[in-house]
Amino acid sequence: MSDVVGVVLAGGEAIRLGELTRITNKHLLPLGRVPMVYHPLKRLEEAGVREVCLVTGQSHAGDFIDILGNGRVTDREGNRLIDVNLTYKVQRTAGGIAEALGLAEHFVGDDRVVVVLGDNILGGSIKPYVDSFRRQKSGARLLLKKVKEPSRFGVVEIKNGRITGIVEKPKKPKSNLIQIGVYMYDNRVFDIIPKLKRSSRGELEITDLNMQYVADEEAEFDVVRFWWMDAGTMNSFKEANSLAFKDWNALGFK
Ligand code: G1P
Repeated sequence: MSDVVGVVLAGGEAIRLGELTRITNKHLLPLGRVPMVYHPLKRLEEAGVREVCLVTGQSHAGDFIDILGNGRVTDREGNRLIDVNLTYKVQRTAGGIAEALGLAEHFVGDDRVVVVLGDNILGGSIKPYVDSFRRQKSGARLLLKKVKEPSRFGVVEIKNGRITGIVEKPKKPKSNLIQIGVYMYDNRVFDIIPKLKRSSRGELEITDLNMQYVADEEAEFDVVRFWWMDAGTMNSFKEANSLAFKDWNALGFK
């Protein structure tokens, strides 16, 4: 049985965060008591995914290595905060989430992969869902959540218990269920990515990748109930920070 490894995507230009990302990468900004990127790494560690590849842009790659090193991160008192085995890949230009994942092909090898977007902060553990994926024979597994403003995200339609469609940032969303930034794939993902076409914004879209699994009737899902934020805009960054401070114990750090 193949193992499950992790990929954290921490690239992008983050222009939606204005002045905050002039000098550093979004994922190094504070989220609660730690830099943002600690959160996806912690969630993977907690789910038993210890081999992790971090993909980031060239300009701040050195800062990630400074702060995360080989993936064993301790605080100033010497308490272990994160315990994974970290590998790095550099995405030279921002070409989309699916393109960034494609860079991890050799890292993933014959294994299967859990991808977590570096700006997603989750108020609960993903272990039960990763365990379901471990039991799944093939295909993809997406995590969904009901939200108030679905048109900011990839909106998911479900009929008879199956995903039938995903539309990226629709003006008129057909449901309030969206895909959060945690995606699990079998090894076939690396055959699909090279066949994807660039979207109007010049990117390989995660939604197009997921839609291929939907078309092949290979997309399983879970609807999560814990709170969740994508900290990519000024408002959501602010809200994610206040939630992170308020509900620190939910974030998996001791
Ligand atoms: C991306 C995906 C979107 C998903 C969201 C979750 O959007 O394209 O489908 O719902 O992440 O955080 P982005 O935040 O890159 O605009």
